[in-house]
Amino acid sequence: METNLEMQQVNSMPRIGDTAPDFEAVTTKGKIKFSDFAKDKWIVMFSHPADFTPVCTTELSGFAKRKGEFDALNTQLLGLSIDSIHAHLGWVQNVRENTGVYFDFPIIADIDMKVAKLYGMLQPNESETAAVRAVFFIDPSKKIRLVMYYPLNVGRNMNEILRVLEALQISDEYQVAMPLDWKKGDKVIVGPPKTLDELNARLADDSLEKVDWYLAKKNI
Ligand code: BEZ
Repeated sequence: METNLEMQQVNSMPRIGDTAPDFEAVTTKGKIKFSDFAKDKWIVMFSHPADFTPVCTTELSGFAKRKGEFDALNTQLLGLSIDSIHAHLGWVQNVRENTGVYFDFPIIADIDMKVAKLYGMLQPNESETAAVRAVFFIDPSKKIRLVMYYPLNVGRNMNEILRVLEALQISDEYQVAMPLDWKKGDKVIVGPPKTLDELNARLADDSLEKVDWYLAKKNI
């Protein structure tokens, strides 16, 4: 049995801007090699603490019910927990029988905790055996763009997961940033000027909503 300290040493923590670490894994949709998985798509990879538990059932059902919205955003869902493939299959079937909701996306059976440790999903002071509720937003170049970690006792917010995914994609497309509480349809922030010419152009641009020269918004 590893000590807490040993677990922390092998439990890496990928950060925003890092290339998502590669791995091979068994999932409910067959084996995957992450570097070859969902090429040209965004990936939302999320962990849950355990199959057949109540909060996790609501969360995975939330992902399943809104899968069409992730598809529309060219995004592949990928679940993970430290459970066996048999537990995953049993749980998927149990939820389908009970509620009609089908988890139609791959769920990694990370029984040896390899992927959970690689992605900092195993946080031993929260649980030594179960992954926390992590969400990794990974762009089509396999770069990590946003990370969420939630504890075992608080479920995530699906509206927020979709909001930040859309914000990342629109930010990339238009080279803009998103203000507090931004949602699709709201004005976006244009980057601050880097030269005096850009500053002067900014001041002369009547299409912008300007609070000051460094804080301006526009419609897209
Ligand atoms: C749950 O999903 O309900 C849960 C899982 C692990 C610990 C606590 C709650």
